[in-house]
Amino acid sequence: MTQQSEIFKKVISHAKEYGFIFPSSEIYDGLSAVYDYGQNGAVLKNNIRQYWWKAMVQLNENIVGIDASILMHPTTWKASGHVDAFNDPLIDNKDSKKRYRADVLVEDYVAKIDGKIEKEIVKASKRFGDAFDKEAFINTNTRVKDYQEKANAILKRLGKSLEAGNLEDVKALIEELEIACPESGSRNWTDVKQFNLMFGTKLGASADSAMDLYLRPETAQGIFVNFLNVQKSGRMKLPFGIAQTGKAFRNEIVARQFIFRMREFEQMEMQFFIQPGTQKEWYEKWKEKRLNWHLSLGMGSENYRFHDHEKLAHYADAASDIEFKFPFGFKELEGIHSRTDFDLKSHEEFAGKKLQYFDHEKNENYVPYVVETSIGLDRMFLAIFSNSLQEETLEDGSTRTVLKLPKILAPTKLAVFPLIKKDGLPEIAREIVSQLKWDMDVAYDEKDAVGRRYRRQDALGTPYCITVDHQTLEDQTVTLRERDSMKQERIAIDQLSDLLKEKLDVKHFLKQL
Ligand code: GAP
Repeated sequence: MTQQSEIFKKVISHAKEYGFIFPSSEIYDGLSAVYDYGQNGAVLKNNIRQYWWKAMVQLNENIVGIDASILMHPTTWKASGHVDAFNDPLIDNKDSKKRYRADVLVEDYVAKIDGKIEKEIVKASKRFGDAFDKEAFINTNTRVKDYQEKANAILKRLGKSLEAGNLEDVKALIEELEIACPESGSRNWTDVKQFNLMFGTKLGASADSAMDLYLRPETAQGIFVNFLNVQKSGRMKLPFGIAQTGKAFRNEIVARQFIFRMREFEQMEMQFFIQPGTQKEWYEKWKEKRLNWHLSLGMGSENYRFHDHEKLAHYADAASDIEFKFPFGFKELEGIHSRTDFDLKSHEEFAGKKLQYFDHEKNENYVPYVVETSIGLDRMFLAIFSNSLQEETLEDGSTRTVLKLPKILAPTKLAVFPLIKKDGLPEIAREIVSQLKWDMDVAYDEKDAVGRRYRRQDALGTPYCITVDHQTLEDQTVTLRERDSMKQERIAIDQLSDLLKEKLDVKHFLKQL
């Protein structure tokens, strides 16, 4: 097992063991690519959602938030292009009867080549020790260069064939590379076909009159169909944005990688309506603003990069992903798309209603252009959670598992312990909890030795712990211990509230935007 998959396995088991994420309906052996958030996961997810909402809605006068429904009139998805174009190329293995995404089979093949490159690097770094220059090795070692060239050529051909809709060539590529079914080892493949990712459902009780609906595959369309309602009722002037968070559903063929690719997930999207012709400028601005939002959480600028799309979706004239370094490599975390006037124009056409803005300065009506920012909440959760989970070797040689979550997002901000369960210490600790719980999520814990209680809170990501001891009885001070440095200091009980509120103030993070 590679080091990367080892780390990822730890992320998944830690998330379950500490009440962050459970497989859905686990007592029935779970449901593939569907997950439930546990008692700590639900709070962390909510905190991430709020951090996004504050940055997008609360801090921008010209952005408002809505909450549109999951079920929408089915014509919405005709107009948006999802009925005709929201497809993945799939292939079945005739022997195992297993279904795969054809592009993912090829990408997995390329990932194996990348794995071979990684092995060569590890071998060489062991051989050369401190003198090892990774960059120079990659650029000069012939075996590594051959692997890289092969991988690049495969990806280039795959991209070209998909773009041209040449599914025969995708199948030919799979056959030429002798890719076998991961289940059965068989190379007996069907042709590659397009598969629509939307989940269907029905509205209405009687079978004859029931209407076929879809569960929304993105939240964005709920914003487009409400564009005029919001603009008129809010007297909004261009440029302005409409934001929302909510569930989206996609019948993903390849659904692995834990909460990275789910069938039911949550999006946080914002459509920014602008004057036609200004889209380039706003697209660049939103790319920068969104990257700054990520950087404000302090998870290391080296873990982010932009990936500008060459192959554009049917609605876009420019698109870029913010990629994050997940345990399985750099992958898309958020998309910034310049969507032109495609969606509003298409809804005008299908609904037969005008969706235009009257520009008082220009004295004319037009359909605004849109720049969209779209991030998966669950994917953001995974980025934060996997980046925060660390194993440290302490000075005494012992190890500790610590979840170094950005403090403002931690599900529990403070844990309060009485040193022992007598001498009036639990009563004082409980009194501190009852005072501070109005301002933050506080936990009380009196089980086990204090050292073990610290470790438990470290694993949950709790940034601060307070211990009430016998000195507290004399001078009304407690020990305040900080998660990352493990430093301890004495603090007067009556100063705790102000001190913690200051340390955990979201404002300090958001001010970096
Ligand atoms: N409205 C544009 C849109 O939906 P997208 O690139 O398909 O664009 C946006 O999705 C974001 O939603 C992605 O960057 C990702 O974070 C998240 N996302 C998409 N599919 C997902 C899935 N199956 N599971 C989890 N998150 C997903």
